[in-house]
Amino acid sequence: MSDKRIAVIGGTGDQGKGLALRWARAGFEIIIGSRDAARAVAAADAMRATLESNGSGSVRITGAANPEAAVSASIVVLTVPFAAQVGTLKEIRERLAPGSLLVDVTVPLEPAVGGKPTRTLGVWAGSAAEQCAELSPPGVEVVSAFHNVSADALADLEHEAECDILVCGDSKEAKARLRPLIAAIAGCRYVDGGPLANSRTVEAMTALLIGLNIRYKTHTGIRITGLKE
Ligand SMILES: NC(=O)c1ccc[n+]([C@@H]2O[C@H](COP(=O)([O-])OP(=O)(O)OC[C@H]3O[C@@H](n4cnc5c(N)ncnc54)[C@H](OP(=O)(O)O)[C@@H]3O)[C@@H](O)[C@H]2O)c1
Repeated sequence: MSDKRIAVIGGTGDQGKGLALRWARAGFEIIIGSRDAARAVAAADAMRATLESNGSGSVRITGAANPEAAVSASIVVLTVPFAAQVGTLKEIRERLAPGSLLVDVTVPLEPAVGGKPTRTLGVWAGSAAEQCAELSPPGVEVVSAFHNVSADALADLEHEAECDILVCGDSKEAKARLRPLIAAIAGCRYVDGGPLANSRTVEAMTALLIGLNIRYKTHTGIRITGLKE
């Protein structure tokens, strides 16, 4: 299967939609996943209409139930709230093909237990990404990314998303598979964030950014300075 086909699990939500719009516009084939296949199809239709009315020409976005979406792509991106991460992974993990790349975007924010979005929860595994890796089948590489770019910035197709994307994972090759997906989002840059365990820090930074967004009434991103590439 080609890495040009991407399943976005929970793609009916804000973050998944933003990523899907950017990737579809850049020519990737997108399958939106949902617990409800009809909701996935409706979301895919709405995204296609948005892009076609924006002059993006013909784009490829379809919708399916989460397990069907997961089985049909070699890159599977998980964009669900932390409270839904384990349940969703249990629903899709048997359907992930060996060699596929699972990209975890989950941030363990406090609202999962009724708390503040400006604070993260402690995760026994270390981070949402490490929890995702523990629940993934052998032969599936797990990386984490896209935590620090906001859904609002992604959905604003008239402007660049302006964010460095820290990619964490234990395999350099697996992380590098995300390079074309990040290059496809104007204003975003791939940054190797080191091992998957570093996702603890990257996930926590999202809570900080949410606080900044509330104080400054905007949507912030991050830039790492001093890199040579
Ligand atoms: N929004 C952002 O700006 C942003 C930025 C960086 C990272 N993130 C992270 O990305 C993930 C998704 O964020 P989001 O804002 O897109 O979330 P969301 O809109 O609240 O939810 C995304 C999708 O997850 C599914 N979902 C919701 N509750 C569920 C449940 N209890 N069980 C199973 N599925 C459920 C829903 O899809 P169906 O109902 O169609 O199944 C929903 O459309 C989160 O972990 C978030 O922390 C978000």
